[in-house]
Amino acid sequence: MNQPDYEYLRKLLKDHSGLDLSADKQYLIESRLLPLARKAGLADIGELVQKLKGGSSAVIAQVVEAMTTNETFFFRDKVPFDHFRDSILPEIIKARANRRSIRIWCAAGSTGQEPYSLAMCVKEMSAALSGWRVEIIATDISQEVLEKSKAGIYSQFEVQRGLPIQMLVKYFKQIGELWQLNPDIRAMVQHRQLNLLHDFSQLGAFDIIFCRNVLIYFDQEMKINIFGRLARMMEPDGFLVLGAAETVVGLTEVFKPFPERRGFYRPSGTAGAAGRTGTTWPKASAAARL
Ligand SMILES: C[S@@+](CC[C@H](N)C(=O)[O-])C[C@H]1O[C@@H](n2cnc3c(N)ncnc32)[C@H](O)[C@@H]1O
Repeated sequence: MNQPDYEYLRKLLKDHSGLDLSADKQYLIESRLLPLARKAGLADIGELVQKLKGGSSAVIAQVVEAMTTNETFFFRDKVPFDHFRDSILPEIIKARANRRSIRIWCAAGSTGQEPYSLAMCVKEMSAALSGWRVEIIATDISQEVLEKSKAGIYSQFEVQRGLPIQMLVKYFKQIGELWQLNPDIRAMVQHRQLNLLHDFSQLGAFDIIFCRNVLIYFDQEMKINIFGRLARMMEPDGFLVLGAAETVVGLTEVFKPFPERRGFYRPSGTAGAAGRTGTTWPKASAAARL
């Protein structure tokens, strides 16, 4: 691949998905995009770039899709889910006793292991949430991963990564060599395609936002921009949860770390944050009642 083609693809990816590739990632582009080019009957990356310059939005979407990293697994890093189940969710339940509703956004849900891990935690709290309205929204830029997430079907390898065996037995049904999440857990998660670079304010306000292992791919300016917009969608006493390699520290003041809960952040109220006393529910919301 020649340098101008590489620079063209770098810019295209940054503009369309936020992916910020360093100057030496030609091999990554080659390994992900050459199969795509060949499948489309093109000889090499150069021909793919020519096609992209023709402005086909379908091809741009395929390129963006091919370059996303969708790595995920159930209860990834374990500790955030322990905190979620043992302290964060109980605290939110107490704080929402009058409203009896909770909204959770999984902002880069990939193939579903993260939003369904949250759904299983919520399900385990059913006794305390009887009659409550709990909404879990999983979004991702990639339609392909969303389709897999909706189906809730996983391989033996995928269910062996992070999922406690008791949860597998309790919440999944075996179909041949695969495992499918039971319909009641699948029904707890709504799916929407959403690019974090675009306006997401229409989703309404959230009590908890999981936005893990996606901002690592973005440059500093984009991270700061997204943190600002996330802060404006959070309830003042809500929580933002980031991945193990991510932080707001040194980037923005709109969130502050929550003491003794690594990876959890609270809005500091400096972003013109929600400041709401109640939640704004988007139209046609399909929250599950527990
Ligand atoms: C590495 S996975 C992380 C999945 C999950 N949050 C976890 O921590 O296990 C990153 C996900 O972010 C999605 N993604 C990448 N760029 C995005 C963007 N601009 N907007 C929304 N999602 C994006 C990818 O499609 C991918 O599914």
